[in-house]
Amino acid sequence: MSRTLIVSKSPPPQGTIFVPGDKSISHRALIFAALGNGPSELTNILPSEDVLCTANILRQMGITIDVDDNFWTVHGVGLKGLRPPKETLYCGNSGTTLRLMTGLLSAQSFGCKLTGDISLNQRPMDRIIEPLTLMGAKVSEEGDKSRRRIVVKGGQVLKPMHYSSPVASAQVKSAILLAGLYVSGSVSVTEPLKSRDHTERMMKALGCDISIKGSTVTLNGAHSWEGREFLIPGDLSSAAFPLVATLIHPDPQAAITVCQVGLNKTRTGLLTILESMGAKITISNRHDVLGELMGDIDVQSSQMKAVKVDPHLIPSAIDEVPILAVAAAAARGTTELRGAAELRVKESDRIKAIVEQLSKLGIPIREFQDGFDIEGSTNWRGAHCRSYGDHRMAMSLAVAGMIAEGTVRIENVDCIETSFPGFVPLMESLQALIRYA
Ligand code: S3P
Repeated sequence: MSRTLIVSKSPPPQGTIFVPGDKSISHRALIFAALGNGPSELTNILPSEDVLCTANILRQMGITIDVDDNFWTVHGVGLKGLRPPKETLYCGNSGTTLRLMTGLLSAQSFGCKLTGDISLNQRPMDRIIEPLTLMGAKVSEEGDKSRRRIVVKGGQVLKPMHYSSPVASAQVKSAILLAGLYVSGSVSVTEPLKSRDHTERMMKALGCDISIKGSTVTLNGAHSWEGREFLIPGDLSSAAFPLVATLIHPDPQAAITVCQVGLNKTRTGLLTILESMGAKITISNRHDVLGELMGDIDVQSSQMKAVKVDPHLIPSAIDEVPILAVAAAAARGTTELRGAAELRVKESDRIKAIVEQLSKLGIPIREFQDGFDIEGSTNWRGAHCRSYGDHRMAMSLAVAGMIAEGTVRIENVDCIETSFPGFVPLMESLQALIRYA
């Protein structure tokens, strides 16, 4: 049985913290290290359930991965060295694992099947099956929703392609680019709005011939690379929870620093939106690691005001909308957020989940097909909430519980392990009154 969290009105967060490694970059570092020639040293890989699924799948295809606490060694076998897995590949709750692996595997000489948990098996795969099929791959879905298998036939020679994606999705773009490593000729993807660009940055750092023009990425042919070092920055999507907990705390003494967080521009939409709401945010110690910007983020308690969120910022804040909704609920006025229909197909239907759960706390919120309006208010009441098995919903509700008047119970919170192991003790170190029931 998945656990329940109990959160009560808490003293102001204070202190300096680190958050675990970036989830998106961790998946990619493992995959690119596995495809390199020889060993790569990876520091600060996120050891969460989602990332462990990617590591296990690589192991099932013959990759040796040694784990020594925060230092992982991946023994790369080169682009052509993966071995056929004996069993179905299990991706757990991880959309990134399923979609990136399907792209990579569609270009191998062998076939395989991939599956996931109930939530993942219901998430759309046509968005990657269509472009991979256009490249000549043979990928299909079999079984009903709860037991879906993605069947990759393998043994196909993939062709060059230009693809205009109907969705801004880094998972779609990355699946195509990974398959593109096996194409002689160029493969390019244009998105309606630019999604996170970690794959293309990593490919560039590894020496691939990749060009980026606006929201179009082009990979020109195959390329191989040697093992190397990868340093993973802290995950801004995880930092978002203690950051917002501090910003919305009414005590002016609330102030924290989160150190060495990834600040890639395709990920910082939340910070831009919060700043436009009047959040006191200062960034220092900016530096570049392997083409990825990182730095330290200071925040203090801030009286924020509502905004109309610019829909162009949604892709760069896509995973942060649940916690942004909590910030908006504490701001003065009505925040309007639209252009976020993608939230309907995340780990849960996040628009529905946000609307249902924040309403329980007495927060006025109105649902739209692609977003919501939230009226800021104080004196949130306690409530019995549910996470929908969605890690970001569970953590957002825990943050809300830190300033609600009554106790907030959140059911089914083991999902937090998919992205943020150590969330509860970390929040406790910031004075949160949070415990398991
Ligand atoms: C991710 C991309 C995003 C994001 C997900 C991680 C990635 O999904 O929501 O949590 O690592 O590529 P989409 O690409 O579907 O937008």
